[in-house]
Amino acid sequence: MLGIAATLIGACTFGQVAAQTFQRLGGCPKLGCVFPPDRTDFLSGQFFDIRVEVHAPINGSEAAHGGVADENFTFCIQRGRGECQSATRFFSVKEPTLEKWTFSYFEDLFARDAGAPSIVNVASKAYRGLTLTTPGEYTARLKYFSGSETVANWVVREPATKRKAKNVLFFIGDGMTQSMITAARLIAHKSINGRYQTLMQMDQMDNLGHQMTHSLDSFITDSANSATALYTGKKASVSALNVYADSSKNSFDDPKIETIAEMFRRRIGGPIGMVSTAVIADATPAALCAHTRDRDRFPEIVAEYLNNAIAINSTFTWPTGCSGPDVVFGGGAENFIAGPSSPNGTDFYAAYRAKGYNVVWNNTALQAVGNDKKVLGIFSSMAKWVDRNVFPQNLRGLKDSPSGDGTDAVDQPGLKQMTIKAIDILQQRQKQKKTGWFMMSEAASIDKMMHVLDYDRALGELLELDDTIRASIEHLKKIGEYEDTLIVITADHGHGFDVFGGADTKYLAAQTTDIGKRSAVGVYQNSGLSGYTVTEGSLPNNNTVIFGSQGPNFPVQWNPRYTYAAGFGANPDHREDYAINQAGPRLPATPGDDGIFRVNPQDQPADGTIPGDQPQGVHSLTDVSVFANGPGSETFRGVYNNIDIFFKIADALALGSSGR
Ligand SMILES: *[C@@H]1O[C@H](CO)[C@@H](O)[C@H](O)[C@H]1NC(C)=O
Ligand SMILES: *[C@@H]1O[C@H](CO)[C@@H](O)[C@H](O)[C@H]1NC(C)=O
Ligand SMILES: *[C@@H]1O[C@H](CO)[C@@H](O)[C@H](O)[C@H]1NC(C)=O
Ligand SMILES: *[C@@H]1O[C@H](CO)[C@@H](O)[C@H](O)[C@H]1NC(C)=O
Ligand SMILES: *[C@@H]1O[C@H](CO)[C@@H](O)[C@H](O)[C@H]1NC(C)=O
Ligand SMILES: *[C@@H]1O[C@H](CO)[C@@H](O)[C@H](O)[C@H]1NC(C)=O
Repeated sequence: MLGIAATLIGACTFGQVAAQTFQRLGGCPKLGCVFPPDRTDFLSGQFFDIRVEVHAPINGSEAAHGGVADENFTFCIQRGRGECQSATRFFSVKEPTLEKWTFSYFEDLFARDAGAPSIVNVASKAYRGLTLTTPGEYTARLKYFSGSETVANWVVREPATKRKAKNVLFFIGDGMTQSMITAARLIAHKSINGRYQTLMQMDQMDNLGHQMTHSLDSFITDSANSATALYTGKKASVSALNVYADSSKNSFDDPKIETIAEMFRRRIGGPIGMVSTAVIADATPAALCAHTRDRDRFPEIVAEYLNNAIAINSTFTWPTGCSGPDVVFGGGAENFIAGPSSPNGTDFYAAYRAKGYNVVWNNTALQAVGNDKKVLGIFSSMAKWVDRNVFPQNLRGLKDSPSGDGTDAVDQPGLKQMTIKAIDILQQRQKQKKTGWFMMSEAASIDKMMHVLDYDRALGELLELDDTIRASIEHLKKIGEYEDTLIVITADHGHGFDVFGGADTKYLAAQTTDIGKRSAVGVYQNSGLSGYTVTEGSLPNNNTVIFGSQGPNFPVQWNPRYTYAAGFGANPDHREDYAINQAGPRLPATPGDDGIFRVNPQDQPADGTIPGDQPQGVHSLTDVSVFANGPGSETFRGVYNNIDIFFKIADALALGSSGR
C-alpha cells in the first residue's frame, strides 16, 4: 500500500508539470504578487502571514525591466475607504528584511519540450503572525515598477457571538462522490421493486448541501489544498497545506494560515483529534496542523503535529499551533521508527512519548489504553475494510507491524474502532474545563482505491465510513453528547466514477473475444437487480468477521455472479472483469521501460466497457441533486426517492384533500 501511495503522490507531482496550463506563480497573474491574494475572506482573529513578491522575468514572453526586480516596492493596507497605511504601521510590526531569489518555470508545453525555462528574479518581503479583528472590507496595495499596482480585496466576516455546538465531529470521505454513495447503497442495502428497505446513515442526515472544490489556481483540486480550504476557509494550490505557495526555494517559509484545529486549541483550549485510514502524515490529516507547500514532506509533517510549525528563523515563532493533537490515529510507522523516513532519523515514537503520549500499535492495545493521556496510535500500512473483514489472509506476509519488529500487523482497528475510541479520549480530556472537543475522522482509502480502479475496495471503505457515522451517533447518544455535537460529513473532491450497468461475470469469463466479453455487460433493462445480498442479522461484536456474515449495512456476498459494471471518467490503460480482486488491492497499470503506464498483464483479462451494439454512452446510476428555494423548499433537504418529489410539490400546494 505504501508503494501505491507513493505512486499516487508521484503521479500528482508529475501531473503538475505535465498540465496544460502553466503559471509563473498561482494566484499572481501580474508581476506583483500579494498573498493572501485578492478575494480572500478571514475569520476575525485568525492568524495569517503576508508575502509580497515583485517579479522581473529575464526572458520568455513576460521579460521586463531588464530582469531587475524592483526593490523599492511599497505595500499598504486600508480598511474600508480609510487611508492606505504602510503594512508595518497598519499592523504595528517592524519593516521585514528584503529577500531576493531567482526561480524558473515553463511557460507552456513547447517551452518544456524545448527545455527552455523562463528565469525570474524576485524581490520580496514577508510580514508574519498577523491578525485582523475588525470585521469589514480591506484593501492591500502593492506598488512597484513606478506605476504598476496589484490590489487584493479582503473581507473579515462578521463572526457569530453565541456558541451553538459543544463538540465538532468532522468526517471526510476522501474522493467520495454521490455516485459512489449510490453504488455503495446498491450493494449493501436491500431493495424491493426499486425501493430501498434500509438506507445509508448518510442518507438520513438532516441537511444536504453541495460544495465547489476548485483551487486557487486550478479547477481540479488535490487533497492538500481542498483540506486547506475546508480547515482554513482559504483557497490554496495543489500540494499546499495551510500556506499560499510562494516562489522561494524553502517549502516551509511560505505564508501561513491558521487552521480550525489551531484556533480551537488557542481560543477554547480544548482537545483535538486526528483520525485517518491513511498514513497519518497524508494530506487530509496533515492539513489540520501542518504548514508547508509540499505535502510530501512526511517527516517534517509528523514533527509539526508535535512541535508546531517549523521556525522561519530563530527570533520568530508562528504564534499558534496544534501543540500535539490529543488523538493521532492512522498508519505510516516508517515516519516514526528511527530510519530514513523519520524526523532526522530519530525514534519519533520516543518524541511523542516524551511529550506525554501513550503509544499503541494494535486494536487490542487501542481498546485497552486509558482515556486520560494523549494517544498516538500507529497501526501499519492500514489494510482496507474488505481485506480486514473478507480476505484477512491478505494481511499476512506484509511484515508491516508498526513496532518495526518485522511481524505482520494482523490486529488492526478500522475507522469505527479508531473513531469511537477517539471520542472517549477527547470526551475525557475536556471533562475538567468542559471545553468540548474537535475531531476530524477520514475514510482515506475511498480515494486511494478509486485511484487504482479497485471499486469494490473503495465501496467497502465508503460503507465502513457510513457504519462509523452510524456508530458514532449511537455512541454520542449513549454518552449524552449527541445533542451538543455538530456532525459534518463531506468529501474533499470526487473521482469520475459511476455505474452504468450490471455484469454477468460467469458469461464474461467464458468468452474469448473482446466483443464477446463486452456483451456480458447488461445496460438498461439488462442491468437487472443487485446480485449482492444483505442479512438482517447483526454484526458479530468481535473483530473476526466471517466471510458472508458482514451484514447489515455491508454486502453478505462480495463475489456474486451478477455484479455492477462501473467505469471511470479518467483512467490509465486497463481492463475490467467486474469481479472483486481477491488477492488484495488492484494494480491496473504498470510502467514500461519508457515510463509510460500500460495495462498490467497480471490484471483483469477483459477489455472494453459497454456492449458492441450500443452506439452511444448510457445513463448511469448516480443520484441527482435537487435544489429548491422559497416556501415549502425546506422539505427538499435530505435524500429521498423520485416518487417523493411529487408528494413534496403536492404538499407545498396543499393539493391533498385535508388542505381544501
Ligand atoms: C531604489 O531606490 C533607491 C533610492 O531612491 C535608488 O537608489 C535605487 O536605485 C532604487 N532601486 C531600484 C532597484 O529601483
Ligand atoms: C532563459 O535563459 C536561460 C539561461 O540563459 C535559458 O536556459 C533558457 O532557455 C531561456 N529561456 C527562454 C524561454 O528563452
Ligand atoms: C532536524 O534537526 C534540525 C537541527 O536540530 C532541526 O532544526 C529540524 O527541525 C529537525 N527536523 C525535524 C523534522 O525534526
Ligand atoms: C525573523 O522573522 C521575523 C518574521 O518574519 C522578522 O520580523 C525578523 O526580522 C526575522 N529575524 C531575522 C533575524 O531574520
Ligand atoms: C499489541 O501491542 C502490544 C504492545 O503495545 C503487544 O504487547 C501485543 O502483543 C500486541 N498484540 C497483538 C495481537 O499484536
Ligand atoms: C467472533 O464472533 C463469531 C460470530 O459471532 C464467532 O463465531 C467467533 O467464534 C467469535 N470469535 C472470537 C475470537 O470470539
